[in-house]
Amino acid sequence: MQHSELILIIDFGSQFTQLITRRIREANVYSEIFPHTISIEKIKELKPKGIIFSGGPMSVYDDNAPDIYDEIFKLGIPILGICYGLQLIAKKLNGKVEKVDDREYGRTECEVISPSIILKDVKPKSVVWMSHGDNVSKPPAGFKIVAVSNHSPVCAIENSEKQIFGVQFHPEVHHTEEGEKIIRNFLFEICKCNGDWTPENFISKSIEEIKMRVGDANVICALSGGVDSTVAAVLVKKAIGEQLICIHIDTGLMRKNESKEISELFNSRLNLNHIHIDASEIFLSRLKDVEDPELKRKVIGNTFIEVFETEAKKFKNVQFLVQGTLYPDVIESVSVKGASVTIKTHHNVGGLPEKMNLRLIEPFRELFKDEVRNVGRALKIPPEFIERHPFPGPGLAVRILRAVDKQKLDILREADDIFIKAIKKSNLYNKIWQAFAVLLPIQSVGVMGDARTYEYVLALRAVTSVDGMTADWYPFEPDFLAEVSNTIINKVRGINRVVYDISSKPPATIEWE
Ligand code: XMP
Repeated sequence: MQHSELILIIDFGSQFTQLITRRIREANVYSEIFPHTISIEKIKELKPKGIIFSGGPMSVYDDNAPDIYDEIFKLGIPILGICYGLQLIAKKLNGKVEKVDDREYGRTECEVISPSIILKDVKPKSVVWMSHGDNVSKPPAGFKIVAVSNHSPVCAIENSEKQIFGVQFHPEVHHTEEGEKIIRNFLFEICKCNGDWTPENFISKSIEEIKMRVGDANVICALSGGVDSTVAAVLVKKAIGEQLICIHIDTGLMRKNESKEISELFNSRLNLNHIHIDASEIFLSRLKDVEDPELKRKVIGNTFIEVFETEAKKFKNVQFLVQGTLYPDVIESVSVKGASVTIKTHHNVGGLPEKMNLRLIEPFRELFKDEVRNVGRALKIPPEFIERHPFPGPGLAVRILRAVDKQKLDILREADDIFIKAIKKSNLYNKIWQAFAVLLPIQSVGVMGDARTYEYVLALRAVTSVDGMTADWYPFEPDFLAEVSNTIINKVRGINRVVYDISSKPPATIEWE
C-alpha cells in the first residue's frame, strides 16, 4: 500500500524492534521494519520521513556485527538511533564506543543536561529502561550530549543541523517513563509527520487498491469465523460487493453451535452472504483412527482444500483468494535465517493458491492483530465478535488427543461451552488470550452416587499472551476452578475428572497438539 508518510525502522536484531513499530503506529504514523542490508536506492524509493535504527544484541565491534551503508547519513532524512543504533551512529561517524565492565540492564535514571528537540518537554529526571554492554564514551564531532545516566556518560545525543539523534535507552518500552514523548518528538517535531494513519484512512485506501487490482474478476474467501479472515472479508466486500464469493465450510470440528451462530452473524449483521457447506461427515471419516497430531493436521488441511476447491470451481472467473495474513507472519517468514524445525503445521488455507492458480489478496499483511481489531471496529463489526479468542484452523481436532470421533467431539463441546460461559460470566474473557478445554485420551476411576465410574479426563487451559508466541497460564481463583469443575462433572456425561494446565509456553505450547 502507498503510505503518505513512512517511518522506516532498520532492524539490528533487537527483541523490541516490533515494539518500536507499534509505538509509532499508535501515534498514527505508518512505520515498517527493514533488514539492515536494505539498499540506499530502496530507501530513496520509499521516501521515508524518518529512519530509526533499532537496538541489537551484538557489540559494534563484534565480527559480523550488523552494519549500515555510510550514505544513509547523507540522505538528509532524520535518523534516530536506539541503543545499538546509537552506538553504530557513534562508530560510523568517528565517535568512540567502549565495552563496559558492568552491563547496564533494567531501570535507570536519565538526567537531561541540555535543551534539545529530541528531549523537548521531557522531565529533567526520569526513569528509562536500559539493556546494553557497550557505551558511547565520546560522541562524534558536531554532536551534543543532551542527557546522561549513572552508567552512561552519553545517554542521549543530537546533531540538530544534520538531524541525527541517538538514545542509549529504549524509548519504545513502557518502563521508559517519557518514551512516548521522545518518540512523538522524533515524529512530529523532527520528521514533521502529520499523523494521518488511522483505521478509517487505512480502510478507504485498501478499498481503492482492492478495486484497482481486482477489476472485474471474482474473488473467493474461506470464512472460518476467525477474526482476521472475517474482517478481511468485510473489507473486500465493501470494495467489490457481489464479486466476492464467501464459502463457509463446517468441518464438524467447531465449538458448540459455532458454525450456526457465525453463519447467522455473517448473513444478518455483516452482509456477507455466503455458501454454507456441511462437510463434517467427510472430515470425520478421513480422521477416523488418525492419532498422530501432525498427520491429523495434514488430513484436515488436505480435506479442506479438496472441499473448498470443489465448491469454488462452481464459479467462473475466480482469480483471487482473500487471506487474513498478519504483519508478524510476514516479518517472521523473511527474517528467520536457516532452517527451523516445524513444531506444528498450521492449517488455514495453505496450498490452495498454488493448486488453484490464484493470486492473494492479503489486506492485513502490514498490520498487527490489535490493528486488525481496530479496523474491524471501524467497519462496525460487533465488538463481541472482534474480541473473540483465537481458534486454530484444525479446530477441536487438536484439542482431542489421539483419534477424533463424533462422541468425543460432543463431550468436548459441552465441557468447553461451560468453561467459556463461566469465564465470560466472571468478566475474565478479555483478560485472557485464549481459554479452552482439552479431552484427554485416558479414563480414570471415579465415584458418582454409589456407583463406580470410569470416564474421561478433561484438561482446562487458559493463557495470557501478547502474540501467541509466548504464554503464561492464567491464575484463576480456586473457587472459580472448583465451580467450573463441578459443573462439568455434573453436567457432561463422559467426564469424571477435571485438571488445570499450569504450563507456560515455552516449553509447552498453547494447544496440546
Ligand atoms: P501453539 O499451540 O503453537 O499455538 O502455541 C499458538 C497460537 O496459534 C494457534 N494455532 C493455530 N492457528 N491454524 C491457526 O490459524 C493452526 O493450525 C493453528 N495451530 C495453533 C493457537 O490456537 C494459538 O493461538
